[in-house]
Parts: sequence; C-alpha cells; structure tokens
Amino acid sequence: MSTFEMSAAPVALSRAASIPPSCLHDVFRSAQAWELVHRRAPIRLHVGEPAFGPPVEAIEALAAAAREGRSAYTSAEGMAELREALAAKLASENGHDTGPDRVFVAPGSCQGLAALMQSMAEPGDEILLPEIHWPIHLQQALLAGLRPRFYPLDRDFRPDPDSLADAGGERTRLILVNSPANPAGVVLDEPFLRAVLHIARRRGWRIISDEAYEHFVFEGEHVSMASLERDVPERERLVHSAFSFSKSYAMTGYRLGYIAVPDARAASALRVVQEASIVAPPTPVQYAALAALGVPQAALRNRESVRANRDRSLPSLVAAGLLGRVPPGGWYALLDLASVGLDADVFAAGLLAEHGTAVAPGRGFALRPTVDARCRVTGIEASPRSHGLLRIAFCGDGDLLATGVERLLAAASGGRA
Ligand SMILES: Cc1ncc(COP(=O)(O)O)c(C=O)c1O
Repeated sequence: MSTFEMSAAPVALSRAASIPPSCLHDVFRSAQAWELVHRRAPIRLHVGEPAFGPPVEAIEALAAAAREGRSAYTSAEGMAELREALAAKLASENGHDTGPDRVFVAPGSCQGLAALMQSMAEPGDEILLPEIHWPIHLQQALLAGLRPRFYPLDRDFRPDPDSLADAGGERTRLILVNSPANPAGVVLDEPFLRAVLHIARRRGWRIISDEAYEHFVFEGEHVSMASLERDVPERERLVHSAFSFSKSYAMTGYRLGYIAVPDARAASALRVVQEASIVAPPTPVQYAALAALGVPQAALRNRESVRANRDRSLPSLVAAGLLGRVPPGGWYALLDLASVGLDADVFAAGLLAEHGTAVAPGRGFALRPTVDARCRVTGIEASPRSHGLLRIAFCGDGDLLATGVERLLAAASGGRA
C-alpha cells in the first residue's frame, strides 16, 4: 500500500479551533462592508476607539527611541526602568504594596491577561466570569483550558456577594473581576471588593482584577483590588491585576499594558509564559510608556472628555427607557431594547443598513459554552437575558456620538431600525 492509499488518522478539532470568534469581529466586518458599499464611514459606536490621541510626549518618545536605535530586545518582563516607574505608580496611585520584580510589561493588557490565565491554569480548573462579560475574557479562559462558570448580575449589571459565593463549585480556582466594567460601565466599590476577597480567601480562589478602565470613573473613585490586601503577607495574597495604556492614554494601537502579580512564585510562572509567547514587549513602545507616565494629567483630561460625552448623549437614552442609568465608569453603555420589544441583533443590523450607525448586539457578551473533558467547546448559547442588549461606546467624537444616539432613538421609537 502506498503512502497515499493509507487511510488518514482522524485529526481532532483543537481547543482553539472549537472556540467561536468574538462577536466584535463580526460587527467590525459588517461596518467595513457598509463603508465599501456606501463609500463613507458609518458612525462607529460598536468600538472603543477614543476621539483623543496619545500624549505628544509618548509619540515623540516612541519616535526618538526608534530613530536612535533603542530597539533591542528587553527582558521578558520589560525594561527595568519602566517596571520601576510602574511599581511606583501602582504604589502611589493604586495603593499597592509591590515592586518591579512583580510587574510585567505586556504587549497589551489583553495579552497579559491571557498569559496570566495560562500561568495559573491546571487541567479541570474552573474560572468564574461575570454573566455579562467582555467576550475576550471568555476566549482567554477557554484557551488556557479553564472551564468557565458564570456569576449572576442584577438588573443594573452589578454582582452581588451572596450569589457570587454560590456560583463557585468544587473545581473553581479563579474569579475574574472587571471594574470599571466592559460592557456595562459598572464600578465596584470597596465593600463589594472586600466581600469578594473574603469569599475568595474562604474558598481558595485566586483573583484576576482587570482594571483597564481605571482612569474612567465618573462617580466616586477607582478602588484597585490589590490595595485591599497590601497588609496581607505576600505568599497569602490572591489578587493579580491587569492595567492598560490603551484607555488612559489612548495608546490602543501601541499595544501596551502591564500585569502586577502578588508574589515571586506567580512571577516565575508568568515569566515562563511570556518568554514562550512574546520573548519581550516591544522596546520603543516601552519608552513611550515611560513618557506617558510622566504626564498623568493626560489621563485626567481624557476622563473628562469621556464624561462630557456621557453627560451630553446618554441621559436621552435613560429618558427613553433604553438605559437604566448613565454608567458610572468605563467607555460603554449597555442598553436594553427588550422593554420596547426589540431584538438587539435585528435592530443592530437595521441601524447599520438603514441609518449608517454600527452598534454591538449583546448576545456575544453573554455566551455560555458547554465544554468537553478537554475544555473544547461543544455547544454555545447566549443567556436569554442578552437578546435585547446592545452596547454602545461613548469614548469617540462627541458630535458623532450625539448623531448616532439620535438615530438610535428614532429607530427604536419607530419600533424598527
Ligand atoms: C475590559 C478590558 N480589558 C482589557 C482590554 C484590553 O486592552 P489592551 O489589550 O488594549 O491593553 C480591553 C480592551 O477593550 C477591555 O475592554
């Protein structure tokens, strides 16, 4: 029998191939297709791309580093000078008790989060995610081989400590907390975060705290979860934190974030994942990070710009009964069209096709996969509650946002888009 006549052994579907792509990519593709046909850009409320740009100091530092040849590999953790500056920022601004040896620069906090999950996952482990979540968190968990479980959120998309304790199971090892949250803009306060810490300690869970939107809190102030265990001995700390330059400094395409881990053991596990995944974060971009850290007022200005958009355009959605309240933080509002009897997928497709306005339907933020023993996805459903949900970003141009919201309101009041 020749090689060609032999029957091929069946190739099993890999775990990655079993995971559905993020719903956000679908909306991106639809918006691009609309632009090609109409030869003009739609109003892009589906994506968190800010109207403001990176600080000029960061742009110049990036260019200078590239021009002057400061572009050799750094260590997997990032430049020592930058990690020192980040540890100082985490201590002074976020209240962490940390040091540069526990800080990792990453090419985007997204990569840092994925690496963190990989560095902690053991076969069979479960992770608790919010019922309505950033779809990438779910993809990251599944890729790391973590079996997802979901904790419920109330009608304002807030978790409740009691139901959180009940949501975990025998094999739960991790919980992800995201404040300010994508997609609903919920901000978690200190009593809630303390309650999570308490439950996690009792149940033996480690915590991932995604704080990418730390500078976008419009009511109250951002509480960084790791600050609540600054007096706990290092080896007993639970919180692993993720931060980003994408939001605070509008450096989305620079791909720059950082991770703070609680102790040396967590650092050595994460180092291995980063060595194997990125070798090192990009060097000129790290110089841009150092420069951005020198102009913290830029982050405050950016917050005020997003707050102004929020206050100008979102109250009309509350008045129309499509939004429970203006979000206290973040870049996004999660509308509920169920009250006006509309399905978000149908509405979003019509709003783009007929009104040139792209928004993100909520189903993709509430997926509940079933997984097999190897954590491959065998089926996926969206929580029924999500069928009326629609996410809009309010970080972009204020006038475009106002026009997009007007079109949305007109379409919703007509009962169709
Ligand atoms: C909740 C959340 N975390 C993390 C990120 C990733 O940010 P980056 O990888 O650009 O640092 C995003 C980006 O949209 C996000 O919404």
